[in-house]
Amino acid sequence: MNKASMKKTSMNKAAMNGPALNNLCLAIDTTFDDTSLAILSGRRDILASVTLSQYADHAEFGGVVPERASRKHLEVIHPLLDRALAAAGEKAGRPIALEDLSAVAVSNLPGLIGAILVGMTVAKSLAWLLKIPLIGINHIEAHPYANFLVHGELPFPLVHLVAAGGHTLLILQQDHFDWEIIGRSVDDAAGECVDKVAKMFGHPMPGGPVVDRMAMEHAAGPYDFPRPMLAAPGLDFSFSGLKTAMMYFLRDRGGAPPRDEGEAGPVLSAFFAAVSEVLVAKTLRAARQTGVKNITISGGLAASRALRRNFEAACAEAGLGFFCPPPALCTDNAAMVGCLAAYRLEAGLHDGLDLEAFPNLPF
Ligand code: KG4
Ligand code: ZN
Repeated sequence: MNKASMKKTSMNKAAMNGPALNNLCLAIDTTFDDTSLAILSGRRDILASVTLSQYADHAEFGGVVPERASRKHLEVIHPLLDRALAAAGEKAGRPIALEDLSAVAVSNLPGLIGAILVGMTVAKSLAWLLKIPLIGINHIEAHPYANFLVHGELPFPLVHLVAAGGHTLLILQQDHFDWEIIGRSVDDAAGECVDKVAKMFGHPMPGGPVVDRMAMEHAAGPYDFPRPMLAAPGLDFSFSGLKTAMMYFLRDRGGAPPRDEGEAGPVLSAFFAAVSEVLVAKTLRAARQTGVKNITISGGLAASRALRRNFEAACAEAGLGFFCPPPALCTDNAAMVGCLAAYRLEAGLHDGLDLEAFPNLPF
């Protein structure tokens, strides 16, 4: 083949393949009650992000039933994989098949062990079948990467608040893969507390969005809800006392929550002001104590407009940089997993097929 025809052939191939896509990675997250899959090209180009939430499947039990969660993940993960490939193909302008993947990432901790194993089995099967690297991801480490996804490179060191239904954590990150937990809830997570209080007012899971709406649309009434551990030194949180305070508040008023929104709104707004004040104050304290100038928030509660507004105001006043992801990337999603996986893959950090699942954080 002469030079001219070689050039023509490669041009034809490029045209056939559509836009250049580098390192397509499939990311899977099944750590709790969301089945989430994403396909990323490189660190930040989200070609597909699909999530199926199980809230309705567990509603009659008043909480997530681990066995049921695993079964549901198993039921939906393959149709979701097909949907993710189709969505990626649509965005790329050409069909995307499993054979186009160069890596597969999966959250292998922390969470419900049976649920994690569903995602891991699919990920390992694909890694083996396609002979591509498998990357195990810590779901907690991945949450702040929702910020790297949308804001690009962020200036280290960073303090991250991860505020979700299962975790409330403060993380100090010096660099990629170099981070430590510097504060955590000693009992309920903030999201769990918000969900439980919403339930007392008759709102089903997830209660966060409705409490957030109350906080945005109603002024906080003159109620004195505690700010747990705010006066205590240190960076740990406690939210179970705040939930109990609401229980006593309702008991003292006859047991039943106020029926109409005009009455309930100011109560829930005052309650959320307490949650928000503690989260904002402790995160800013963490930045002060560590000398860090930039903070991020992530996790489902970070989707709260009221919390974001309060963080924005406090950070502006303190002269700190503040980053938060769009709401869809605050709640559990596999795109954040894919973003962290891209950094790990570039650094040569991947795992063997003997990757294990862990229900808890190792520290
Ligand atoms: O990160 P996430 O989806 O799952 C866990 O890892 O737990 O967080 C779920 C939590 C729940 O407490 C839910 O009520 C809360 O995030 N949440 C919100 C909003 N969306 C979800 N809280 C306030 N405003 C929202 N828009
Ligand atoms: Zn999460």
